[in-house]
Amino acid sequence: MAEKTPGGVTMEKLVSLSQRRGFIFQSSEIYGGLSSCWDYGPLGVELKRNVKEAWWRAVVQGRDDMVGLDASILMHPQTWAASGHLESFTDPLVDCKNCHQRFRPDQVLVRPVYAQDKGFLGYVSGFNTEELQNKWQELLSKHPIRTGAMRSFTVPPPEPKTLHDFLDEKIEIPCPFCNAIGQFTEPRLFNLMFKTFMGPTEEEANVVYLRPETAQGIFVNFQNVLTTTRRRLPFGIAQLGKAFRNEITTGNFIFRSREFEQMEIEYFVPPETADKCFDYWVEERRQWYLSLGMREENLRLRPHGEEELAHYAKKCYDIDYNFPMGWSELEGIANRGDYDLAQHAKHSGKEMTYFDEDSGEHIIPYIIEPSAGVDRSVLAFLCDAYDEEIAQGELRVVLHLHPSLAPYKIAVLPLSKKENLAKAAREVYDDLRQCWMVHYDDTQSIGRRYRRQDEVGTPYCVTIDFQSLEDNQVTIRERDSMNQIRVPTATLKETLAAKLAGEDLFVLPKGGQIWKEEGK
Ligand code: GAP
Repeated sequence: MAEKTPGGVTMEKLVSLSQRRGFIFQSSEIYGGLSSCWDYGPLGVELKRNVKEAWWRAVVQGRDDMVGLDASILMHPQTWAASGHLESFTDPLVDCKNCHQRFRPDQVLVRPVYAQDKGFLGYVSGFNTEELQNKWQELLSKHPIRTGAMRSFTVPPPEPKTLHDFLDEKIEIPCPFCNAIGQFTEPRLFNLMFKTFMGPTEEEANVVYLRPETAQGIFVNFQNVLTTTRRRLPFGIAQLGKAFRNEITTGNFIFRSREFEQMEIEYFVPPETADKCFDYWVEERRQWYLSLGMREENLRLRPHGEEELAHYAKKCYDIDYNFPMGWSELEGIANRGDYDLAQHAKHSGKEMTYFDEDSGEHIIPYIIEPSAGVDRSVLAFLCDAYDEEIAQGELRVVLHLHPSLAPYKIAVLPLSKKENLAKAAREVYDDLRQCWMVHYDDTQSIGRRYRRQDEVGTPYCVTIDFQSLEDNQVTIRERDSMNQIRVPTATLKETLAAKLAGEDLFVLPKGGQIWKEEGK
């Protein structure tokens, strides 16, 4: 068995691998980059496409009760009045009058500092507990104390509150950036929607917004889909697409950015079945991540407290992932009640009901909404797949991506560049790429080429050697176990198809033989 090295995935390692191997680049890098915007490179675009396709297969293609939609990003501005985004999609912000930094007071942690012999020394503020701890030590060290006296809290350290909790009390808290005391402006609400203008004149009447969620495109098309597909409740509409939010605090690589993609389902149900359906979708969505190889211990469900619920939600659970920076939201599942259809009916004056043939009544269905982020899923799958091992005395970095997510399914590797071998390898390559994304690599030693494929998560390498020219057999090398089998070239495609569909690679095909690779 390959020995594991201590120390697993970190965000730094992922950012570096993503940049080095062409998964994800900083946007507009040659101009110094554009903050919180990212470009998916040749491998990233495949991984992202595979995540989206896996989702579509699971929630549209594989189900009788779902259909798809692709609504436009720009929508009638009334949409955002009806949805509540114009009024409620806001973050409170304060400015420091001394250093002119602007930030969200609910993201600034505040803690009082006491020394046992001096009592209360003041407050410290910062964006995380490590920062608070450092400032706490610094403040204590500035206050000389009697020899032998203990420097400590008089009481156990209280849980930090946020600056937001203190603003109403007018207590003088230091700025988390410059430490100036009591220099904050009153909190002001800042709308997170990006504005632009429709047509050539930049006036208020022409304002339109880049959608902050894909969901509204589904709600406004409810009647169109209902009448054109003759659906009966319960049924759902799924949509994938870009969303934009002028987030105040971004960061953690692609976790929170200003332009991102969502995978949203709006599932319409009779109101009396909404609770049951909510539970169903929470489990269904959790299983989706597990079915793509995500480790169960890295997923958890987190119910929202009353105070945390969005303005439209009756109930909400987050599926959290254990990212390197800690547990954070991957997907939210909400019971939106009849809020959205009722709001759009009110603002548009159009009927947004469903005729229930059994009861003979028009009802407004409730909506259960599983809403996932594409980019966050990509990040979570990368974190989960990343592994380091010692193999043959060397560090092997490997992405154990599920085959259906891996950017390349297969790499074709001729042992040498010699013409007759290259010709045979090219034939294999051309044949396989009719079915899958396949990579061809004939540079450097075979060991290095295997490592390169491990690092980008390619499940299978096919090696063509001089023996292949004589016996018409090639070697399949498996990424995770590093085992190899030799199979007839004539059955290669069907063998790989079976492997990629999830069969055990090492059930020997007829005429094959198995052996261990690389001194394992
Ligand atoms: N329609 C409901 C809705 O949009 P949300 O919790 O605001 O709910 C749903 O967003 C998902 O979209 C999140 O769970 C997350 O995966 C993704 N998401 C939201 N804001 C994001 C951002 N700034 N960057 C990347 N992904 C984001």
